[in-house]
Amino acid sequence: MSARILLVLVSCALSVVTGLVIARGGANDAEARMRVATEVIKQVRGQKDPETAIQEPPAKSNRLVIGLSMDTLKEERWQGDRDLFTAKVQAAGAEVKVQSANSNDVIQLQNVESLITQKVDALVIIPHDGAAMAKAVNLAHEAGIPVLSYDRLITGCDLDLYLTFDNVKVGELQAKFLADRIPAGGKLRLVRIYGAKTDNNAKLFKQGQDNILQPLIAAGKVEVLFEDWAEDWKPESAKKITNAAITKNGPNFDAILASNDGTAGGAIQALTEEGLAGKVIVTGQDADLAACQRIAQGTQAMTVYKPIQSIATKAAELALKLAQRKPLVARDAISNGQVDVPSVLLDIVAVTKENLRETVVKDGFRKEAEVFPSTQQ
Ligand code: BGC
Repeated sequence: MSARILLVLVSCALSVVTGLVIARGGANDAEARMRVATEVIKQVRGQKDPETAIQEPPAKSNRLVIGLSMDTLKEERWQGDRDLFTAKVQAAGAEVKVQSANSNDVIQLQNVESLITQKVDALVIIPHDGAAMAKAVNLAHEAGIPVLSYDRLITGCDLDLYLTFDNVKVGELQAKFLADRIPAGGKLRLVRIYGAKTDNNAKLFKQGQDNILQPLIAAGKVEVLFEDWAEDWKPESAKKITNAAITKNGPNFDAILASNDGTAGGAIQALTEEGLAGKVIVTGQDADLAACQRIAQGTQAMTVYKPIQSIATKAAELALKLAQRKPLVARDAISNGQVDVPSVLLDIVAVTKENLRETVVKDGFRKEAEVFPSTQQ
């Protein structure tokens, strides 16, 4: 048994980790490595038949190619994800093929089929609809290509790896921010705007929010006046929800729990038209530039900073390992309804006017001059 194999086994046995190892074919010790992989995969997946789990990579002598299938590039954050991921993979001497589906499941499936036809060595998918993309994973596996689900979980399939932020914690941070602002002796009147129903993350953000809000609702300290899901996370949809809330309740509410910065932007547009911007507390997520500016100006109260640099860099690293069938370790496991998917979870930070500079600006994610334009000469 080689030292590396021993290391993998020891690390898997000693730590409370979920390990994922995919054997690489072609090398002299391929058979031995297949056996190791078999043992580890059995630990991870329980029932799974390891013979079918391990695919020989396509025999290729040229450089590695990673396929990146994206839901959309419309929101600012995803352009950052694409650029950072691509730069990192290219810096390692590999190639990236990017496809974006414009929030359309049929197009996203076609994109994945095209990447499979182009014989990518590994696929990274940011699904528009986590359930709909199970088919894409199955097709990739039929072609022997491993799949990493990026940020959003692909459900109902034998997914290889999931890389994301702690999404329940995102929702908790948003709701905690509001819980800390309940008027003394009174209650917080709240409008809730959830994300896209097709996005598993939107459900996790809500779950995190509920963890904090349910006891407060039960205690009469928070009253939810209006709530709805924003179609495809669209700002226009959030604006409509806010308008509907105002039509129903008048301007008598204290806060809008918007699940991301895009929907916060839509809600704030509606508030601006009613002369309420800055008077109603609005949450968000992503530290989009526009949101950081709104926080600096006082029309949005908070956002959640999810360092895109970390997820994009980690994804590149993991995708390259998957592409080469190298061992890798994932410390968490998240059920996608079919299997416990080996998962890597990254941490996040709540951002307010008070810590804008020491978080997103200090990290180089946003420039001081962009966030606080009026303070610059
Ligand atoms: C992501 C958020 C993003 C939202 C809309 C979610 O899955 O986690 O960062 O704002 O999608 O694109």
